[in-house]
Parts: sequence; structure tokens; C-alpha cells
Amino acid sequence: MTLPEPESLYDRIRQRYLEHNVPWDHTLPPPEVLAFVDAHQPGRMLDLGCGYGRASLHLANHGWRCDGVDFVPEAIQGAQARATALGLTGRVSFYHADVTALDFLFEPYDLVLDVGCLHAQPLEARARYAENVRRLTRPGGTFLLFAHLADDEQPEKRRWITRPVLEALLNEAFTFDRIELGTTTVGEDTWPSAWFWLRRAA
Ligand SMILES: C[S@@+](CC[C@H](N)C(=O)[O-])C[C@H]1O[C@@H](n2cnc3c(N)ncnc32)[C@H](O)[C@@H]1O
Repeated sequence: MTLPEPESLYDRIRQRYLEHNVPWDHTLPPPEVLAFVDAHQPGRMLDLGCGYGRASLHLANHGWRCDGVDFVPEAIQGAQARATALGLTGRVSFYHADVTALDFLFEPYDLVLDVGCLHAQPLEARARYAENVRRLTRPGGTFLLFAHLADDEQPEKRRWITRPVLEALLNEAFTFDRIELGTTTVGEDTWPSAWFWLRRAA
């Protein structure tokens, strides 16, 4: 059977999970996340666009209490299965939900993490996303963000987020403690990208 052309962000990403074409499915989270865990005492962490939950599972294994959210049901099912296999179900919860509609979460988190989710959100959803991150990061807590950045030199590939847009979304509630610029290759594509360490205003 031929699947219809993917139309939305959700369709595109879900199709990846259905085809087991999930290039971010590594056992460990990125080194920036590992370094954060090494440098901080365990607390509460929220994993936005958690996928199969590699970051939540790693932090839970290091004493954190983690909540992961993803809008693809197969991602959440996979994450829950991994938590069960690792004996971590008491420390980690995975929710099938949209990161722009998190009214069911209340308690502020010491760490809110986004590895590759915000940059793909449609324009009209970004303010809701930012408001959820503001509300759910405890004062003094960290929002650790990895994003592909729109490439000014390749206007035909401007499908990610620009740094000024990102800063405008977040700089009222957060201080940008550190930014590390780089590039990231996924399959045949290479984009500018960056890690952002943001601190929630007290
Ligand atoms: C690039 S993947 C990274 C997954 C995970 N953070 C990791 O590093 O393994 C981005 C994830 O964000 C999820 N996602 C994208 N938009 C979302 C939304 N609006 N609500 C919830 N999840 C979303 C996708 O389903 C996908 O699993």
C-alpha cells in the first residue's frame, strides 16, 4: 500500500516512526545533556518532544524524576516499553501530548529539555510553546535547548527557526547563559545548529 504524501509536521514525523526511520534513536542523549547531568544534583526534568525517551531514561537512571511528552503515539509506546525494560517506571512518566498544550502539567521543573522539537513548530504554535516553557521551568531553573537554525545562505532550506526569533520568544523570561553554535548533519542534510543554556528569571 502506498501511503499518502505527508502533509503536516505530525504526519511527516509519525511516518518516520512507522518506517523505523528515526535517526535520533541513540542509546544515550547528546553529550551536552550528559554533561548537565554530571554537573547537577538530581531534580525534576521535563523532556519536550521526548521521542523514545533517551534523555528521560538517562536522567531517571541518575536519580532524576522525569516527565516526557511526545505527540507521536508510537514514540510514547516505545519510550514506555524502554522504561519498563530498564525498571525505571517509578521515576519516569511518558505522556502522549502536544508540547504546545501542556495544561495537564503543573509542578515546575528544575530542568526543561528540548532536543530538536521547538525548531520544527509552526509559527502560530511557538508563542504557546514558549509560554508553557516559562510556566513549567522553576525560577532559577534551566531550559536546555538544541535547535537547527535557519540558514541565511540557503533560503530554500529556511524551514527551521532563526536565532533572533528564538531570542524574542524566550528572552523575557530567560537569561541566555551560554550559546554554542555548530552544524548538524541528518542524513544528507547539514544545517547550522546551536545549543542554548537558558536560566529562568527568579
Ligand atoms: C528530532 S526528534 C528528537 C527526539 C528526542 N528529543 C531525542 O533527542 O531523542 C523531535 C521529537 O519531537 C516530537 N515533536 C515534534 N513536535 C511536537 C509537538 N508539537 N508536540 C509533541 N512532540 C513533538 C517528535 O515527534 C519527535 O519525537
